[in-house]
Amino acid sequence: MYVCLCKGITDKHIRDSVDAGAGSFREVRRALDLASQCGKCGVVAREIYDSYLNSY
Ligand code: FES
Repeated sequence: MYVCLCKGITDKHIRDSVDAGAGSFREVRRALDLASQCGKCGVVAREIYDSYLNSY
């Protein structure tokens, strides 16, 4: 599912970024250039990040 339409980032990209070692949501954003354009995806992206961490 696309999370960030501006940058073409999916929920899988976010999970893969965590698996690759991003240690915070800020690092995920930086690694993927997520939410850097219109910013509308930030809240949903954060929810995906949080729920993935809670699934461990
Ligand atoms: Fe992510 Fe616009 S949808 S920056």
